[in-house]
Order: sequence, then structure tokens, then C-alpha cells
Amino acid sequence: ANLFPLEAPAGHTAPTLDLVHRPRRTRRTDWARRLVRENTLTVDDLIWPIFIVDGEKTRVPVASMPGVERLSVDEAVKAAEQAAALKIPVLSLFPYTDPARRNEAATEALNPNNLVNTAMRAIKAAVPEIGLLADVALDPYTSHGHDGLIEDGVILNDETVDMLVRQSLAQAEAGADIIAPSDMMDGRIGAIRTALDANGFQDVSIMAYSAKYASAFYGPFRDAVGSTAALTGDKRTYQMDPGNGNEALKETELDVVEGADMVMVKPGMPYLDIVWRLKETFRLPTYAYQVSGEYAMIMAAVQNGWLDGEKAMMESLLCFKRAGADGILTYFAPRVAAKLAKG
Ligand code: PBG
Repeated sequence: ANLFPLEAPAGHTAPTLDLVHRPRRTRRTDWARRLVRENTLTVDDLIWPIFIVDGEKTRVPVASMPGVERLSVDEAVKAAEQAAALKIPVLSLFPYTDPARRNEAATEALNPNNLVNTAMRAIKAAVPEIGLLADVALDPYTSHGHDGLIEDGVILNDETVDMLVRQSLAQAEAGADIIAPSDMMDGRIGAIRTALDANGFQDVSIMAYSAKYASAFYGPFRDAVGSTAALTGDKRTYQMDPGNGNEALKETELDVVEGADMVMVKPGMPYLDIVWRLKETFRLPTYAYQVSGEYAMIMAAVQNGWLDGEKAMMESLLCFKRAGADGILTYFAPRVAAKLAKG
């Protein structure tokens, strides 16, 4: 017998199902969908990472991040003005350091007039109302591209923490509102908190990159800061194994105990389960970094005509909210903010 006839027998009508629950009722119309929507994306959720480069009136495109440019300090000030006009709460700054100023000891990280510190002073002078987040790690300054100091191929944890403390103090001095250690050394949050407090920076916050994974998705960022060519080996002795979830709770608990005000998960989209677990466990302000590779994937598909870029951008960011994130570091920030402002 033919159990699945393609054509219904003559005179057949589908029976009305006897359903109490028809979940589609609340999806029927735009007003109903808006009424039941559990999460929304607003401009207040955005942190905009920008790249700083030497020069004046200079904007250098980053090949693997279409639409993203490295900005000289004067152009970064313009970006900050744009961000403030759009009401983006925070900018995050990363330097492209001239290779001539990189060395084994990462001394440029401590230079009060390095690119990031100079840019922060200029932005604070021009746009005092915007928040500034300073990334703490040595990789933009080391000749080997690692986040820490190395001896005989081994990362020196405690010596690195001493450098990170001094880097943080220079950043606080230059006007950083949030210190964001991305290096994954043990004990750095406590050491930085103690030093900030001892130097009168009690009001400077710490956003810890608590659960930061050794990820392939940072590739375009390393191009942008010029550390790809330099990097020898990988970062698996300090960044976390992508197979681990419980370890993210341990790392985050330590950061919280050591004094982190806010915690972060990185990368973002492949790690939304970690965002959810951190938020459920610690109930602290929790952020996710939609990293360079995630941005590059979406943009590459858009350039091939395979994805609707605007829709993919908005959906990817809304999903961070649903996963429990209080905010997202994203290279889409100015485009999203402009779109949200238009309504
Ligand atoms: C530096 C740092 C990295 C990123 C943020 N801070 C790169 C890395 O750890 O290798 C990646 C950001 C991105 O990919 O967008 N420690």
C-alpha cells in the first residue's frame, strides 16, 4: 500500500488538529513578536576595538578584515568622536607597533608615550565622555609575538606579571578607565589590582579576559597588529584548550577572587556555552569578544554574496545577549550603532 500518496484522494480535507498550544500565535505579527521578545541589542552593549598606527591622517586597511583600518592617533580621535556621537560606551585600543620598537623584553609596553597611551591621552582630551579600555599583554611589543617574556622557549609567568603590572600603571596614568588583561598569565589580576590601588587608581576597573582560548580565530587580529610573522609556535601553554569548559569556571573564579569587576569570554560565537555558564555561575557583568576571525568569516561570505551582511551581523550580536552577555567587543560596533540609531 502507498502510505504517503503525493496526491490526496478526491474529497480529502486536512483535519483541524485539537491543539491547546499553538506557539505560532505569538509569532503571527510584528507587534506580537516584539511583545514577546526576550532579548534585545542596544548601543549600550557595544565595545568598539580599534587599531592604532604611527603617522598622521593615516588610515591603513587591514586586508583580512574588510572595512577595518589601522588609524593614526588623529584619526583615532575622529573615530572616538564618531563613537561618542553614536553613543557607543567604550573604545578598546590596540597598537600596530613599528617592528623596530619590538624586542625580547617588550620594553615599548612600558613607554608612557607608546601608541596606545598617546592615543588614550588624545582621546580623553577631545572626547572625555567616552570610556577607554586598554588591553594588557606583551604581544604587540615582543619580537617573538608572545604575550609574555620567554627564556629558552619557556614563558616566564611571574616576570611577565611584573611587566603587565607596570604596563597597566602606564595605561591608567594615560587615562584608561578599564584595564583588560588578555595575556592569561596566572595571578595577574590580583597583582594589577594591588598595584592600581597602591598608586591611587582605585577607580580604574578591571575587565579580565578570564576564559580566553588558544584559538585559530585570532588570525586576522595578528595581521592587524603585525604579530603574525613574528609569532613562533603557539599560545597553548597560557591560553585555554578549546576542549575545556569546567576550566573556564576555575579561571574565572580566580579572576573574581583576585578582584576582576567584569569578566570576558573569547572568542565569542563558538564559545556561547561558556558565556552562559559564567553568567549563571558568577552573575557578574560578563562580556564576549566577537574576534577578528568571526568578523572575517562573516565579511568573506558577504563579499561572495553568500550572506546578508546586515542580518548576519545583527543576529550574531543578539545571540550573545541571549547567551547572557552584558556586552560584546565587536568590529561591527560603528555599523551596528548607526543602524540602531536609524531604528
Ligand atoms: C593579545 C590579544 C589578541 C586578541 C586580543 N588581544 C590576540 C592573541 O591572543 O593572540 C585577539 C582579538 C581578535 O582576534 O579580534 N593578547
